[in-house]
Amino acid sequence: MEIEPLKQAALAELKGAADLTALERAKGTWLGPHGKFTALMKQLGALPREERPAAGKQINLAKAELETALSERRGELELKSALPKETTDFTLPGRRRSLGKLHPLTQVTEDIVRSFRKLGFAVADGPEVEDEYHCFDALNTPPDHPARDTQDTFYLSLADAQEKALLRTHTSPVQIRVMEKQRPPVRIIVPGRVYRRDNPDATHNPTFHQIEGLYVDKGVTVGDLKGTVEFVFKELLGEEIKIRFRPHYFSYTEPSFEIDFSSALTRKMGKEWLEIAGCGMVHPAVFEKVGYDPEIWSGWAFGFGIERIAMNRYNINDIRLFYENDVRFLRQF
Ligand code: DAH
Repeated sequence: MEIEPLKQAALAELKGAADLTALERAKGTWLGPHGKFTALMKQLGALPREERPAAGKQINLAKAELETALSERRGELELKSALPKETTDFTLPGRRRSLGKLHPLTQVTEDIVRSFRKLGFAVADGPEVEDEYHCFDALNTPPDHPARDTQDTFYLSLADAQEKALLRTHTSPVQIRVMEKQRPPVRIIVPGRVYRRDNPDATHNPTFHQIEGLYVDKGVTVGDLKGTVEFVFKELLGEEIKIRFRPHYFSYTEPSFEIDFSSALTRKMGKEWLEIAGCGMVHPAVFEKVGYDPEIWSGWAFGFGIERIAMNRYNINDIRLFYENDVRFLRQF
């Protein structure tokens, strides 16, 4: 039996395999069930009895050698296939990883928050899935109040809710949630997402963002409200901006106002004044709901739309651009 020449031929083929496919083929040729080396084992029976043990031992040794050669070559070829095909030039300049940035709405929100922080306001937060009580009733807006029509929203049926759950239509319910938990004085702002059953167009979207403000203390006046709003808007939109308060109606404030602003930008848009926020002095009925004595405490509140400010600041004419996440749009800010 010619073990040695057969082994040498097998070794040569295994070690010389150019790639993993060739190696697998060589393995089949020699060591597979019908391989040439396997065939040797089967011939053992034909040998004279006294020669069998020595031949068997020799075959096993040779087989082990082949298995080792096979796995070594496999290791080499696997490493080779994992390495880059072309050599690397380590002297080439690196590729800069492109950094993302904050969404324009986030940037505007952070600027507003920074401005109010200077005046001592803290940021508060509340749930986007609200109950009717906090969204409307506690804000002096009972079920039959017409203001509910303009703030139609998405209602949810939650198994564990005692009351109808809804997506909040404004950030105002957070006023209630904070006052329920905290004794006055209160000085908070609440940036957050709100929802309405609106059809999207250039100036409307069913989801948008607001910033709520609430200030409660003794002897708070409309003058404080005006001074605060003017300070923040000048910081945000520049010193030359003008602000005006127009009488309005909100059920949770009395008196109530809408705030308009006027700037080079509004005039460019063909308008002297543009409405930007609702505000007023907190209604005594609201204080009573949260257990504040309206004879002792007074305060003001406001709410404005973040999108509207961002649109004015960046000269954007369609609100939907904020939500499309087109990087060509977003990269500009
Ligand atoms: N919640 C009002 C809205 O969404 C805005 C608003 C008006 C908030 C008057 C207030 C306020 O806090 O006092 O249109």
